[in-house]
Amino acid sequence: MKPVQIADGIYWVGGIDWRLRNFHGYLTQRGSSYNAYLIIDEKVTLVDSVKSYLTQDMLDRIASLVDVSKIDYLVANHVEMDHSGAIPEVAKLAPNMQIVCSPKGAEGLRMHYGELNYKVVKTGDSLNLGKRSLNFVQTPMVHWPDNMLSFCPEEKILFSNDAFGQHIATSERFDDELPVHIVMEEAAKYYANIVLPYGNQVKAALSAVSGFEIKTIAPSHGVIWRKHLPEILGSYTKWCTNETVSKAVVVYDTMWDSTAKMAGAVAEAFENCGILTTIVNPQDSHISDIMTSLLSARFVCVGSPTLNNNMLPSVAAFLTYLKGLAPKGRVGMAFGSYGWGGQSVALVEDELRKCGFDLMQSARFQYIPDGEKLAALTAQVEEEIKKFILPETV
Ligand code: FEO
Repeated sequence: MKPVQIADGIYWVGGIDWRLRNFHGYLTQRGSSYNAYLIIDEKVTLVDSVKSYLTQDMLDRIASLVDVSKIDYLVANHVEMDHSGAIPEVAKLAPNMQIVCSPKGAEGLRMHYGELNYKVVKTGDSLNLGKRSLNFVQTPMVHWPDNMLSFCPEEKILFSNDAFGQHIATSERFDDELPVHIVMEEAAKYYANIVLPYGNQVKAALSAVSGFEIKTIAPSHGVIWRKHLPEILGSYTKWCTNETVSKAVVVYDTMWDSTAKMAGAVAEAFENCGILTTIVNPQDSHISDIMTSLLSARFVCVGSPTLNNNMLPSVAAFLTYLKGLAPKGRVGMAFGSYGWGGQSVALVEDELRKCGFDLMQSARFQYIPDGEKLAALTAQVEEEIKKFILPETV
């Protein structure tokens, strides 16, 4: 694939990771891309790079436009290796190149790649490239402490690095070249699985760029936003507040179907209250997809039978992942069946409490719940929902 011009003298020269299916445990069913951008001006500037194994792809794209040794600056908006992996090789080929990064970026890059020619910039600093310039905004924790954004005011392009990304491998480079629902679905999945713990930092980043006149957002993963900016900016504005809607996700695993029956009874209570409900089993749905379903869900109900005095490992894995991503403002409920010990429900509830969730009354049945018990469970959950229901429904 050739470089793709995104503005006069500015090109996408990144790498496409068609086979990637696992990114930190996140199922990337559409692969991903690592977007690097080349600005050809009096100072030739590369914004970000690629994972090391795609270095040659990127170098070939650059070489079709300009001699790699002529690169003056490499702007490293982020230390993580999916964007910095090619730095040692580019630094070797362009010995006079300066690596422009935040103070934390320089610390991190030194620990990854040793002493190179670093130029440290902070929020408010600007780099003159000739006809164009880059303004820098530090955005710590979106996604690591070192992150920053680079804005080119002359072209109105925001090089946003991880922010506004989507894990999509595609030969299309722009948001209007793919169905928008796919791009937004992947942007939501990316937010739910990577950015979710950092809502306050996203809020600060959105505020920092609110004064910029942005025509294009060029993230480091997925397609470039040139048409659907209102949708993605509006979604980030909503997601970063942890705003929820009256929606329920019922997550369960089961041994002999008793906890499955309970999941159905719990879901029925939400349906009776007019609340949109999704039932998922982590054996069938990847935990990263479950996170996408609950990005805006107010209710998260988790069920597990007791196995060896514990919950099922599939449910434990989901809860560990959920706790790490720390969604705020949720209501949780634990439920499950048991044969004798019956410890799973208290253990699930304890994890939901550690997530900071408000809790509805839990439910636990020995062996197989009959119709009467399931009806009672539905009635119990309906009563609990009323304590937490929001005025609006989906
Ligand atoms: Fe795409 Fe935080 O790296």
